[in-house]
Amino acid sequence: MARRRRGAATAAAAAAVPPPPTLASTVRSLNRPSIPAVLAGGALYAAATAAGWVFWQVQTTPACGSGCEAEGAVSEAARRSAYTAGAASYDEDVGLHERLGGIARLRERLIQHARGDTLEVAAGTGRNLEHYPEGCRVVLTDACDAMLGVARRRAAELGAGAAGSVAGCARFVRSDAERLESAAELGGVARYDAVVDTFGLCSFGDPAAALRQMAIMLKPGGRLLLLEHGRSPVGWLSTLLDRYAERHAAKWGCWWNRDVNALVAQLEAEQLIVVDTRARFHAGTTLYVEATRV
Ligand SMILES: C[S@@+](CC[C@H](N)C(=O)[O-])C[C@H]1O[C@@H](n2cnc3c(N)ncnc32)[C@H](O)[C@@H]1O
Repeated sequence: MARRRRGAATAAAAAAVPPPPTLASTVRSLNRPSIPAVLAGGALYAAATAAGWVFWQVQTTPACGSGCEAEGAVSEAARRSAYTAGAASYDEDVGLHERLGGIARLRERLIQHARGDTLEVAAGTGRNLEHYPEGCRVVLTDACDAMLGVARRRAAELGAGAAGSVAGCARFVRSDAERLESAAELGGVARYDAVVDTFGLCSFGDPAAALRQMAIMLKPGGRLLLLEHGRSPVGWLSTLLDRYAERHAAKWGCWWNRDVNALVAQLEAEQLIVVDTRARFHAGTTLYVEATRV
């Protein structure tokens, strides 16, 4: 009886110990894909494909020096009408990307340097309005009525219930950036303590003329505050910007491959401004400038 019980216990113990793996089961388990390995392989494949795509694009793009824009390819009228078409959805289109890319914080940091009578050029939908310090008397200009319409609504919302708020007191003037001094409502040259332009230089028909106009609208000692995007010092990145510049300009109205840093350097060379702070972000494609009118 005792021997039978011992035998049953040994059989039970033997059943609990897994049998040694056979060759077939080892091969099966080695061939079964593990999730981390699949994910790592997928990521590697995607990275290699992306690198190959970038390499191919760079190789097959005709060389065009700094500032190459293929501008004739998208007419000025078509480019401007992109802003009219995109005004209603502009904030939604750029909002997430601006938050993720830190642009919202750069706007805030730049605009805190505005003082007194402030002219914002190409103000678009008024995305900087909420950042102006108290005491600023802001005039927002843009060439596009639809953009200014959105900016007006934003100002009304921001200013509602806050008597004397900067946004609530903002004025709106339709004006071309290249002709600021001849817009009677803007009061003429040397009139402003600060001039602001964010992401405008990519959009103007003549960005050099527009930047010069911004400088001459400032009083001596006034601040020129710029946040712009354009070509990168990283060669392959600018080659990619060149390649898609025309498509981007047709859809968004902006030439994202302009050498905005060179435009600012030209004003410095002409001794119209002194740059106090210059910083570049996003592989050099975003340019931040605080400058003073000489
Ligand atoms: C990329 S959006 C930038 C808008 C705004 N500054 C911002 O930071 O969101 C460019 C703006 O430039 C305006 N614009 C284009 N050409 C212009 C010109 N020649 N004079 C004035 N504004 C112009 C467009 O209507 C548009 O509102």
